[in-house]
Amino acid sequence: MKADADPNLIVYFGGEYMPLAEARVGILTHALHYGTGVFEGIRAHWEESAQELFVLRPQEHFERWKRNCGILRIEIPLSPQELCEVLLELMRRNAFRANVYIRPIAYKCAERIGVAPDEQDAFAMVALPFGEYLHAEQGLHAGVSPWRRVEDNAIPARAKICGAYANSALASDEARRSGFDEAILLDENGHVAEGATCNIFMARQGKLITPPVTDNVLEGITRDCVMTLAARELGLEIVERSIDRSELYVCDELFLTGTAVGLAPVVRVDHRPVGDGVIGPLARHLLQLYFDATRGHLPVYRKWLLGVYQARQKPGQEAARMVETSVA
Ligand SMILES: Cc1ncc(COP(=O)(O)O)c(C=O)c1O
Repeated sequence: MKADADPNLIVYFGGEYMPLAEARVGILTHALHYGTGVFEGIRAHWEESAQELFVLRPQEHFERWKRNCGILRIEIPLSPQELCEVLLELMRRNAFRANVYIRPIAYKCAERIGVAPDEQDAFAMVALPFGEYLHAEQGLHAGVSPWRRVEDNAIPARAKICGAYANSALASDEARRSGFDEAILLDENGHVAEGATCNIFMARQGKLITPPVTDNVLEGITRDCVMTLAARELGLEIVERSIDRSELYVCDELFLTGTAVGLAPVVRVDHRPVGDGVIGPLARHLLQLYFDATRGHLPVYRKWLLGVYQARQKPGQEAARMVETSVA
């Protein structure tokens, strides 16, 4: 069993910074019973050579979070810029010098019985040291899940809605108990949607193919990073189209992307080798590019990064520019 998070971590809760042990919600909280919350996942990578902690695309994460909260009619009273300030303060108070995962969560907080939500909303932000989520150094063995991905007309998969993660939990649990490292979920049409906590890419006939955002997937920010790197740095054609299950068995390369997993190559799927059954050249190349871009090694992509310790200006462009000059 994994250890619980350190109770002395400083978290942001109810508008204040406090130890994790003191940040508590009531047993009747609406979101606990009905899944009426929306969360985010953001990564920060520690770069030893620059003595800097680089947060990856926080502004976009907060924009996505606020937009997706709208689906459940949850209001977050701060702007994406103000949320970046909270995030920076949280990181500095914890004085992190390691890779970090940041988990903002907004939720319906009324404490009463009854599924219809009202207007009482709350939000919090937790950040904790976080290493590898899936250990994919040798590549993963993924299995197509017997569970189907939630449909847009049931619970929209494009938002990180707490209740929808029962679907991911069922699929992950099933996959692990069946000896797989990760689940791949199909949607109700039988098309490949995504992993339990990540998007999916397949390389076939020289193209990089990923399901469109209308095939019940989360509109991943790592997905966007990888598409940008593949197109700009490798000149690859990116195709967003539905993927059949059997294409997973005949493709050249397969990999998963997400804030927690980063880029994780899949070398076996449903007990069949993917390509040669080892990590392919494209995944290796993209892994290196993603690593370099997220650690501030590639000046073109420093605009994606917010430096925690050197950023003294407003988050976003100005901070990113400061990082650029201070690291170069
Ligand atoms: C179901 C699901 N799909 C995809 C992703 C990847 O999205 P992102 O790259 O924005 O983290 C996640 C992320 O956590 C996820 O939970």
